[in-house]
Amino acid sequence: MSAPKHVGILTGGGDCPGLNAVIRAVTLALHNECGARVTGIERGFFGLVERKARPLGPQDVAGILAEGGTILGTHNTCNPFKYPDGSDRSAAAISFAKDLGLDALVAIGGDGTMTIAHRFEELGLPVVGVPKTIDNDLALTDRTFGFDSAVAVVAEALDRLATTARSHGRVMIAETMGRYAGWIALEGGIAGGANVILIPEVPFSIEAVARLCQDRESRGLATLICIAEGAHAVGQGMTIRDTLVHSPDPLRLGGVGHWLQHELQPRLQAEVRTTLLGHTQRGGHPTAFDRVLATRFGYHAAQLIKAGQYGRMVALQGDHCGSAALDEVAGRTRNVPLDHEMLLVARGIGVSLGDR
Ligand code: F6P
Repeated sequence: MSAPKHVGILTGGGDCPGLNAVIRAVTLALHNECGARVTGIERGFFGLVERKARPLGPQDVAGILAEGGTILGTHNTCNPFKYPDGSDRSAAAISFAKDLGLDALVAIGGDGTMTIAHRFEELGLPVVGVPKTIDNDLALTDRTFGFDSAVAVVAEALDRLATTARSHGRVMIAETMGRYAGWIALEGGIAGGANVILIPEVPFSIEAVARLCQDRESRGLATLICIAEGAHAVGQGMTIRDTLVHSPDPLRLGGVGHWLQHELQPRLQAEVRTTLLGHTQRGGHPTAFDRVLATRFGYHAAQLIKAGQYGRMVALQGDHCGSAALDEVAGRTRNVPLDHEMLLVARGIGVSLGDR
């Protein structure tokens, strides 16, 4: 196996804290261990089609470890196989990779990015994936970087909401991200001491949530509710805010917190208020945990490339950094299992999941 001489790297889909830490680790490991050149493709697969790239060396990645966002930029609706004008631009992307002389491409992203990366791999472009998403919902990896940072934002928001909730005797609703999987609301809710945690995997009953609020109200207690944007009442669909037709994952959610407020208010004496945490969960510095995980992922992506193990995504399995086949990751979602230990913990300490 000959050592790679030139490797491309891109960040696709929504940004998240830790992307720069991966870019830094891939660049440094390839430079230090095999003297490979690294080229950063700008704005994800869009840059591969539109020929936008720049060299990355150790100087370019100095000081970016703790920076949020991505120095390469990203694009969350660009699919080269189905461009906004309906055309297939995958050949243009591959010809740019060839013109650059890339031996391999590192694609950092979520499910949409892994699905596209897998299709390029099938077309003969050697690809290694690195799993990113604050939602923590990629298949075959126990963690994605960015998740811990998002949970920290939710926990801090709940801490802040708790003091104002107590002062006013209010019901405070915090709506988190998490379209199909409730990991952020679940872990953030537990970390922030929520009394009710509502996730997409467990449809909730308004009556059950109202009963808990009423009970707390009768005891002079405020209530903190942490709800994932993809959570929904029994028999109802998700609250869809927008549909981005060209995005690999077109649904944009948001608003279920306000809907819940509207449903709860007539049933309660206490005032109900809602805070939508939105993109604050994706911005800012990565936590120390995410810096370490992203650095490990970047280093292991470089090892897969050095070993010529393409078509694979770096994955955390327990505490071990291994890998999984891209075709087994693409198009799948890792939901919260209904018998997950964290759900038992939540119920065990009296947190309502809104279902009984
Ligand atoms: O998939 C990550 C995610 O942050 C989701 O939790 C959220 O629904 C979505 O991206 C938001 O996307 P956008 O940046 O397009 O608003």
